[in-house]
Amino acid sequence: MTETADAVSELLDRLLPTSEGPDVRVCDAMRYAALNGGKRFRPFLVMTSAALFDVPPARALRVAAAVELMHCYSLVHDDLPAMDDDALRRGLPTCHVKYDEATAILAGDALQSLAFEILAMAETHPTSRVRAELVRALAQAVGAGGMVGGQMLDLLAENIPMDIGAITRLQRMKTGALIAFSCESGAILGEARATERHALHAYAHDLGLAFQIQDDLLDVEGDSEMTGKAVQKDEQAGKATFVSILGVKRAREQAKILADQAVAHLDLFGEKAELLARAAHFVVTRRH
Ligand code: IPE
Ligand code: IPE
Ligand code: MG
Ligand code: MG
Ligand code: MG
Repeated sequence: MTETADAVSELLDRLLPTSEGPDVRVCDAMRYAALNGGKRFRPFLVMTSAALFDVPPARALRVAAAVELMHCYSLVHDDLPAMDDDALRRGLPTCHVKYDEATAILAGDALQSLAFEILAMAETHPTSRVRAELVRALAQAVGAGGMVGGQMLDLLAENIPMDIGAITRLQRMKTGALIAFSCESGAILGEARATERHALHAYAHDLGLAFQIQDDLLDVEGDSEMTGKAVQKDEQAGKATFVSILGVKRAREQAKILADQAVAHLDLFGEKAELLARAAHFVVTRRH
């Protein structure tokens, strides 16, 4: 993960725009949001899934960078006063605190469009059909049927009662869909067989839910020093989560069950999927 983090940060530094004019402010805000830390877990999933199909790492790294830009955009907007109203992210002031709200909104917008631009470029894959499929699948993952729809439900979860089924759906959309794309993109790049692509999707489906349950557990049990963001936010907002409904102990058990279930979907890859199996363990034991 550290290796991927370094490589993706270096590529992002090259791909992110700069300007000589007064619009440099939005470029600086984009760089601020994308180049300051983060586990780079989604890029790791892209690289590791692509390696299953012997995809040239330079191509996979471009998709990894696009996914991370999309993730950073989602964090910038998630932290805005109209959403979670957070002042700390990755151990630093959030983008709208460092700059201002309008700049943070624009920086998020531009991070998102840069992600699609990178996927559409010929350097990402020589076959235009593959590039179009990457763009389509990412758009589907982050739109109203995926991340954005999930964020909408997440805000509603502060005001309307939700049962475990509704929360599962919400979390699969807001966090699971981008994690699923991260894994599936390896199969798209590698022009893998449908069975292999489906197996990765199924793995990521469970992994993404486990990842968000752990995020909710860290919100309750973690501290800002460790996580680099404010904690106890969900309870303060009166937000329904796995933890608020099941309690800490059962939520942790549920995350563990999902991680094991995720690993079971990797059987058809044999030993080649060892790193992905270990990633599932990381997701439910991570402390940041
Ligand atoms: C935090 O994501 C937001 C969620 C979707 C849970 P990460 O835990 O991957 O945050 P960074 O990228 O490491 O900062
Ligand atoms: C954020 O979920 C999910 C997205 C950004 C899509 P959270 O609101 O729980 O993430 P944190 O805890 O602020 O990182
Ligand atoms: Mg949120
Ligand atoms: Mg938040
Ligand atoms: Mg959270």
